[in-house]
Amino acid sequence: MKKRLFYAVLLFCISLSLLGIYSIEKKIIIFPFINKRILALSLTIVFLQLLYLFGKKHQSKAYANVPKKERNKEKQSLKPSVKLVDVAGLEEVKEEIMEIADFITHAEKYKKMGAKIPRGILLYGPPGTGKTLLASALAGETNTEFIASSGSEFMEKYVGVGAKRVRELFQRGKEKSPCIIFIDEIDAIGAKRSEEGQSECNQTLNQLLTEMDGFKLEDDQIIVVIGATNRMDILDAALLRPGRFNKHVYIGNPNKIARKQILQVHTKNKPLSKKVNLEKIAVKTHGLSGAHISNIVNEAALLAVRNNREEITPLDFDNAIERIIAGLKMKNSTISEKEKKIVSFHESGHALVGKLLKVHAIEKISIIPTSQALGYVLNASSEDQFLYTKNDLLKRVKSILAGRAAEEIIFGEVTTGAKDDLNKATDIILGMICEYGMSNLGNRTFDSKMIYGNMEKINDEVKRIIDHCYEDTLKLLQENKKPLIAIAEQLFEKETLSGDELNHLIKTV
Ligand SMILES: Nc1ncnc2c1ncn2[C@@H]1O[C@H](COP(=O)(O)OP(=O)(O)OP(=O)(O)O)[C@@H](O)[C@H]1O
Ligand SMILES: [Mg+2]
Repeated sequence: MKKRLFYAVLLFCISLSLLGIYSIEKKIIIFPFINKRILALSLTIVFLQLLYLFGKKHQSKAYANVPKKERNKEKQSLKPSVKLVDVAGLEEVKEEIMEIADFITHAEKYKKMGAKIPRGILLYGPPGTGKTLLASALAGETNTEFIASSGSEFMEKYVGVGAKRVRELFQRGKEKSPCIIFIDEIDAIGAKRSEEGQSECNQTLNQLLTEMDGFKLEDDQIIVVIGATNRMDILDAALLRPGRFNKHVYIGNPNKIARKQILQVHTKNKPLSKKVNLEKIAVKTHGLSGAHISNIVNEAALLAVRNNREEITPLDFDNAIERIIAGLKMKNSTISEKEKKIVSFHESGHALVGKLLKVHAIEKISIIPTSQALGYVLNASSEDQFLYTKNDLLKRVKSILAGRAAEEIIFGEVTTGAKDDLNKATDIILGMICEYGMSNLGNRTFDSKMIYGNMEKINDEVKRIIDHCYEDTLKLLQENKKPLIAIAEQLFEKETLSGDELNHLIKTV
C-alpha cells in the first residue's frame, strides 16, 4: 500500500513538473494553479524520491546473492530437530544450558526466591567444538521460543542499519517472551569499539549493549541471550560484564571419553563392521574437534561405499583419519628419486627421535605425498595431556627439528622441507618464553606490548633454545645413525611403515 502511494506521488509530481515546464516555456496557462513555486516544489519531491530509490537499490545490491528467505533469517524463529542427546560429552555445559531453560520456563520459582534471571550466556572456544550444535539442541529440547541469528547478519556498510536490526531482533524477542535469542559468531558485532566513535560497528555494538541491559523489559518479559564465538579475546569488555553476558562457558576440544561419545552419536545409524573399535578410534583422534570427528565418520562411510563394502571397516576409519589429518594422497605426484630419499630420511628422523625421547607413540610413517606435505608421521597419543613440563616441550621441539637434523647428517645440507617444522618449533619456544616463563628471561609473561619492547632479548632467547635443541638432536641422531639409515631405507622401499615395524627395526638394528 505504502509502495503504491509512493509511486503515485512520484508519477503525479513528474507529470506536474512536465506540465509546469511546458506551460512556462510556451507562456501558456494550462492550469491556473501551476506556477513557478509549485514547479519548484514538485521538482524537489521528484528529486528526493529518486534519491531514496537509488539508495535502496544500492542497499539491496549487498544482498543480491542472498535468498530472500535468508535475508529475513533474523526475523524467523527456528525449531531445530536436534536434541541434547545428539550433543556428546559437554555434560557440565549441558547442565548449565538446561538451567537457563529452566529459568525461563519456571521463572516464578526463581522470582519467589529473589533470584535474578541471567541475561546472557556466552559459549566460547575453538571452532567445531559444538557451540552452535548445543544452542540448536537447546531449542530442540525445550519448547521455549528460540530466535537464531548470526553476528554477520548485522554488519552493513550503511551506518545505522546494523543497530536497527539489533533493535528489531530484541523487539521480536519481547513479542515472543519468554524466549532465547541466539547470536552465533557474536565477535562480528561484539569486537572492541574503535576510536572513531560513529562507525557502523560501534553503533551496532552500542545498540546490543543497550538492548542487553534490558531496562526496557516489562516485569513479565524474559529474554535470555546466548552468544557463541571463537574470539572471546576481541570482545568488548562492556559486553562481558555481569548484567550482560553473566556466564562465560568455555567449550574446548573433546577428551578421549567425549570423542568416543561423539563417535557413538555419529555412527548411530551407520552399518559398522564388528571389528570397529570406537575406543581405539577415539585414541587416534586425539586433539581433533567434534567437527573433525563427524567429518571422519562421514569420510569413512564414503570410503566404504567407494570400495563397494556393505559395512564400514576399521581400515576405512584409518584411511579417513589419515585423510583428515594429513590431507588427500596425491597418487600421480611427480617426486624425483632424490627427493623421495631426502623425505625418507627427514620423516625417519622425526619418527626415531620422537620414539627415543618418548615424545609420543608412533602410529605410522608415510612418504606418500599428500596435498599438505611430502611425507608425515602419524602420532598415536594414548592419553590426553593437559600439563607439559619444560622438558616435555624441549623434547617436542627436538622431535620436530629431527627432520632437518637427519637431512644435515646424511646429505650434508638442508632443504626447504623443514619450513613447517621450523614454524612449529618457534611457536612452542615463543610460548615457553612469553606465556609459560620457561626461559632465561625469567618466571614472567610478555604481552604483545612487552614483546614489542623486548624484541631483541626474546629473539636472542629463541635462537639460544632452538640452537641448543638442534645440537642435541644432531648428537642423538649421530649416535643412532644405524637405525636411522635402516628405517629410512625401509621407508624408501615400502613408502609406509607401521608403528610396530618401526619398533621392530629399532630393536633389531
Ligand atoms: N559434542 C558434539 N557432539 C556431537 N557432534 C558434535 C559435537 N561437537 C561438534 N560436533 C559436530 O561438529 C559439527 C560442527 O559443530 P558446531 O557447528 O556446533 O561447532 P561450533 O563450535 O559452533 O564451531 P564454530 O566455532 O566454527 O562455529 C556439528 O554439526 C556436529 O556434527
Ligand atoms: Mg558455530
